[in-house]
Amino acid sequence: MINNYKPDGGKTVKYNIYVNTAATLAKKAGELIRDKFGGEFTRGYKSCPSDLVTEVDRQAELLITGELSRIFPEHTIIGEEGSGQVKSSANDYTWYVDPLDGTTNFVYGIPFCSVSIGLARDGKMVVGVVYDPLHDECFSATAGGGTNLNGRPVEVDQSRRELSKALLVTGYPANKDFSHRLEGINYQQVAAGCSNLRALGSAALELAYISCGRLTGFWENTLMPWDVAAGALLVEEAGGKVTDINGEVLSLENHLSIVASNGYIHEELLKILF
Ligand code: IPD
Ligand code: CA
Ligand code: CA
Repeated sequence: MINNYKPDGGKTVKYNIYVNTAATLAKKAGELIRDKFGGEFTRGYKSCPSDLVTEVDRQAELLITGELSRIFPEHTIIGEEGSGQVKSSANDYTWYVDPLDGTTNFVYGIPFCSVSIGLARDGKMVVGVVYDPLHDECFSATAGGGTNLNGRPVEVDQSRRELSKALLVTGYPANKDFSHRLEGINYQQVAAGCSNLRALGSAALELAYISCGRLTGFWENTLMPWDVAAGALLVEEAGGKVTDINGEVLSLENHLSIVASNGYIHEELLKILF
């Protein structure tokens, strides 16, 4: 695969160093997660008792953000657990780090979680890495360079082109203050309109699964930039589509709503959801 990108018609900018660094750090953080999975670790909560956090989230984040700020001191780094740095330079690079996406699964011993690292340049995603440490699967993408799974190109589901055949996935906010955001959605209608519906518990990994065709469509309300930054690029570079709930360009803001799919079912999905 070619990992080059031409953002302004002419000057080729190579993203290899960024994607390789992100994959290396995601795997290092993944080792921590793998070592602690199913064992002893301290745990607590953030905004409410169901919004879980563990020592592993914090250690993994420090590992990633510490290395990113050492290697790329001029870049802005936004980490879910609060580490990072804000910088401004002529070329505006921003890293979004979710050191452990799927903390609830991790705490309950369900082997479905990931490390998510994305890089935006001037507000546009250019690198995405989502690593599943418990299955040793590394999804990576660069703008214009396609999406890989453990180094091999992948693409979105080509066989299911109608909602009735789609395997959908969604998720629910841990913080109950946002439960009202689920109200407008007719889950009975959605479940009846697709092949089946899942909620697997790691938005980043769910997006990665869309990118390689294991799932057909995904939506969730009330996510944060670090949940989706990397995964959204994986989906787009694998030939899929990512929008907000109005079918508009997704912007990486707090408490965002996202719809992602193989592209073919996107309009039908938007229509049945909102
Ligand atoms: C959560 C996961 C989950 C989604 C939640 C997120 P976290 O992230 O992505 O799938 O449904 O809304 O908060 O807290 O495990 O990093
Ligand atoms: Ca997350
Ligand atoms: Ca997290």
